[in-house]
Amino acid sequence: MKIQVFDSSHDVAEALADRVACAIRQQPALVLGLPTGRTPIRTYERLRRMHADLQFDATRLTTFNLDEFAGIDRSHPGSFRAFMEAQLFAPLRLRPDQIHFLDGMAADADAECARYEAAIEAAGGIDLQIVGIGANGHIGFNEPADTLQARTHRVTLADSTRRDNAGLFGGDAAQVPREALSMGMGTILKARALALIATGERKAPCIEQAMRGPVTTRLPASFLQLHPNVELYLDRAAASRL
Ligand code: F6R
Repeated sequence: MKIQVFDSSHDVAEALADRVACAIRQQPALVLGLPTGRTPIRTYERLRRMHADLQFDATRLTTFNLDEFAGIDRSHPGSFRAFMEAQLFAPLRLRPDQIHFLDGMAADADAECARYEAAIEAAGGIDLQIVGIGANGHIGFNEPADTLQARTHRVTLADSTRRDNAGLFGGDAAQVPREALSMGMGTILKARALALIATGERKAPCIEQAMRGPVTTRLPASFLQLHPNVELYLDRAAASRL
């Protein structure tokens, strides 16, 4: 595990954006896994600037996002798809065929999850998967539980996760869907490289437990210990308990 600690969340964003841009320059047809959430916003902002400055070419890039809320359409302003369109897809001028996303409106969720797994396989697997971490230790929307499902599946969101995502729904946690579709921990761990981004003191306890504690379904992020190629991008606050 390569743990990198930076002075500020700004420096974390710069380092991760540089890592992504470098990976795309080395491998223009990179298959990139992406998270939503507040933490990567600055990284996406820097990637937009770097792309505008012609520091990398995104025309051969393929993306897969980790998760999407169930029961809302991609045009809903709270959807992860809408978030990604604004943050990255439109600014980088990605074509629809470059973007892979779970459809939260799919009538048959199991079939939709199987379709997603097949699409990842067909793309040759994910080269670099960026992940954030929930304060409860979730990765993607794999919530702490007695058992985890390995592959992409439908999940019930923890109340804390719905509260954390209220910002996308006008600040009202009651409006946040109760369910979502998410890559499974097995899907995520199949990526050739993983980059975990975490900033702020609130993430310090779960970062400590995930990296130093036992591997347990009660803290899905702890499964990252099993992957041979994980990079951590942390600010001092998130790393303060390591
Ligand atoms: C979102 C996702 C989640 C977030 C996590 C942290 O696609 O996969 O696991 O990464 O909830 O969210 P923030 O960054 O808002 O603290």
